[in-house]
Amino acid sequence: MAHDKEIDQVSGTETTGHEWDGIKELNTPLPRWWLWTFYATCLWALAYWVVMPAWPLVSSYTKGVIGYSSREQLANTMAEARAAQAVYLDRIEQASLEEIVNDRELLDFAQAGGGSAFAVNCSQCHGLGAAGSTGFPNLNDDNWIWGGTLEAIHQTILYGIRSDHDETRFNEMPAFGRDEILDREQVGDVAEYVLSLSGSETDPAAAQRGSEIFAEQCAACHGEDGTGNQDLGAPNLTDAIWLYGGDKADVVQTIANSRSGMMPAWTGRLDETTIKQLAVYVHSLGGGE
Ligand code: HEC
Ligand code: HEC
Repeated sequence: MAHDKEIDQVSGTETTGHEWDGIKELNTPLPRWWLWTFYATCLWALAYWVVMPAWPLVSSYTKGVIGYSSREQLANTMAEARAAQAVYLDRIEQASLEEIVNDRELLDFAQAGGGSAFAVNCSQCHGLGAAGSTGFPNLNDDNWIWGGTLEAIHQTILYGIRSDHDETRFNEMPAFGRDEILDREQVGDVAEYVLSLSGSETDPAAAQRGSEIFAEQCAACHGEDGTGNQDLGAPNLTDAIWLYGGDKADVVQTIANSRSGMMPAWTGRLDETTIKQLAVYVHSLGGGE
């Protein structure tokens, strides 16, 4: 709607022609600095569309004249990191476990790699700090069921314990109660004897009776003196370190029903270099033999 140009007397500015009860709207021009900034951003946007990847197309996008791709940049960074690691991974692949622990550089690398592989694959059962819990052994101490040498640990990780691998570590303690090899009283007596081995207070008469049962039924795996046998995965019963609990009720339960803990085999699931690093890492946790 055309209207006569009218200049406001006070400000000297043109009005828009809108008027409410005598109040008129001024048509104040945009400030210069604002306009120039606005033009500059428009130019920037145009330039950006040309230079950088910007517009989506049906099945791709405008690549921009410099062809930048953040995905490619990530791939390059990863490839560089892998190339840097490859040097160590190759050396670890070639080296024996002993050679790895005797080489400061390789040892550091294997401990770091083994540590992160442990957090991903092992911590669910053994705990993040490898301290274990009931049924899952502590790997920090120098108490080993299947052996704490580099070789023994490596073999345990490769093939697992009571796993589905042909070469798994395997041994099964009979369920003395459930399979009626011993009656309730005999299970109680031999539990008393087992507890006496680690210095727990026990009923001496029951422990005495239990010691005869132990020699007959248990010594073949746990040893005459109860110190265990790593070749058979039979734990030391004299050290007061209990995988399944050291209360009388726990020990009775173990003897009556046996336990048969399971650890999966890792060969085939993890590559050989990772398994080597894990063996080195576990060995270095404090109890390595
Ligand atoms: C599903 C649970 C589970 C997972 C996962 C697991 N373990 Fe185990 N691990 C066990 C159990 C249970 C035992 C004890 C079995 C037994 O001898 O009765 C064991 C025993 C071990 C032992 C032998 C300890 C000894 O005293 O001789 C080592 C070493 C070990 N685990 C390392 C590992 C490593 C390394 C990983 C990861 C690659 C791992 N475990 C993952 C359950 C697990
Ligand atoms: C055939 C071998 C074998 C015989 C025989 C055997 N054990 Fe075991 N025992 C084992 C194994 C292997 C384990 C490890 C637990 C598991 O994962 O099954 C074990 C574990 C135990 C534990 C648990 C230790 C812990 O740290 O919690 C106790 C207690 C025990 N045995 C007592 C006995 C007693 C008592 C007898 C005899 C009445 C006996 N065992 C006979 C193999 C044997």
